[in-house]
Amino acid sequence: MRYGGFRLGQFEKHVFVCTSGDWCPLQDGDGLGVHARLKQLVKQAGLNERIRINNSGCFNQCGHGPMVVVYPEDVWYAGVSVADADEIFSQHLVGNQPVARLIYDAPLGSNKMKRDDEGRIIS
Ligand code: FES
Repeated sequence: MRYGGFRLGQFEKHVFVCTSGDWCPLQDGDGLGVHARLKQLVKQAGLNERIRINNSGCFNQCGHGPMVVVYPEDVWYAGVSVADADEIFSQHLVGNQPVARLIYDAPLGSNKMKRDDEGRIIS
């Protein structure tokens, strides 16, 4: 992507997976598994120089995870499973078509869900 004559970013797709927040990595799903699967798929396809999968800390959207963000499109995904990672890889990262059913639709800013003392989401 170009902006004002400059290329933005060092990769065609730069993906961040919440892997060190309190909830996405293990509580709200398997964020660690999502990250590992995306890295595996990129490596198997030989796309390491074009697609970068990075760990990330909390996006302040806890309770909606596991969360994944793809740049430069600025597409946010919520509730991503390991199986969904395959679809994100093939359809979005390779095919340039975001996976509509996983797109996160929330108000701007923080959207952490409230939890009780045992970590259960309070609706
Ligand atoms: S732990 Fe992933 S958004 Fe907060």
